[in-house]
Amino acid sequence: MIHVENLTKDYGEIKAVKGINFTVNDGEILGFLGPNGAGKSTTLRIMTTFLAPTSGTVTLDGYSIHEHPTEVRRRIGYLPELNPLYGDMVVHDLLKFVAGVRGITGKAFKSALGRVMGVCGIGEVMHRTVRELSKGYKQRVGLAMAIIHDPEILILDEPSAGLDPNQIVEIRQLIKDLGKEKTVILSSHILQEVQAVADRMIILNNGEVVADGTNAELMASFQGKAQLIMEVKNASAASIKALPQKIPDISIQGQSAHGNVRRVQLEYPTGHDLREQVFKYAVESGWTILEMSRQQAQLEDVFRSLTLMEGGRDA
Ligand SMILES: Nc1ncnc2c1ncn2[C@@H]1O[C@H](COP(=O)(O)OP(=O)(O)OP(=O)(O)O)[C@@H](O)[C@H]1O
Ligand SMILES: [Mg+2]
Repeated sequence: MIHVENLTKDYGEIKAVKGINFTVNDGEILGFLGPNGAGKSTTLRIMTTFLAPTSGTVTLDGYSIHEHPTEVRRRIGYLPELNPLYGDMVVHDLLKFVAGVRGITGKAFKSALGRVMGVCGIGEVMHRTVRELSKGYKQRVGLAMAIIHDPEILILDEPSAGLDPNQIVEIRQLIKDLGKEKTVILSSHILQEVQAVADRMIILNNGEVVADGTNAELMASFQGKAQLIMEVKNASAASIKALPQKIPDISIQGQSAHGNVRRVQLEYPTGHDLREQVFKYAVESGWTILEMSRQQAQLEDVFRSLTLMEGGRDA
């Protein structure tokens, strides 16, 4: 169990993390989602003891990053952003070096090597130089380094950044497999990425937690708008205009006419299903309904509404 409590990090004037709180349960795959600069890497680096917070704390199975950093590090495997590997080293030697730093040598190293080779699928590149490897294999080697000491918790910062679509699928599967036995936290700024593997997600924006829950929970808490597209025949302009007066939660977003067929775009708050009322009104008004389709908010909309700054930041 990991507890992050009132965590803040200032880089001089920049408040990168502004007092965040969350818990990670054992065995969970948690997605850490947020746009560029949200504070994901900063938080993960603090959790792994590589960076000191300005205030607040993280405890891991009761061990605090302040008082017991060694205990914390022993339990965590960390794949940093931009996975910095030693390019000139042979994969085998690199793993031997990383294991050695953790005190894993001799027989213990042999058995650890066998394990990570199998899990990460890196047997065939064991005697190649890191620099020669494809990005996908580099990422696998990075993962092997992160799990060489068989940690209970894996923290992966943007593990699929820079990979091609096939490699992304492979890494996702690898993360899912690892998640069967371990607690995994993975960060990404891509919603689909997190949705594909995570049980639960935390959305970070501008240094603050703006959402925390499963897909379904995030959708349910979203106070967005649902759209209803109608194509109707024989509807008078006056009867369409009168619709919002009859059903006050509805607004007309747009309409177009082709002959006696009109296409009308209606909007109403999600959670209020107004289709039946609209249908009754249509019948009363003598419309012939050719089409009626609802477009509900997607998780993508939830993410955008929570993380888009005013004026947009899509530059
Ligand atoms: N060493 C540093 N010195 C000064 N500012 C920093 C430093 N590291 C990060 N920042 C700033 O802190 C904020 C959060 O950065 P962080 O790297 O944690 O975000 P992130 O969510 O990981 O973003 P990305 O998706 O781009 O990796 C940003 O405004 C960033 O510019
Ligand atoms: Mg980052």
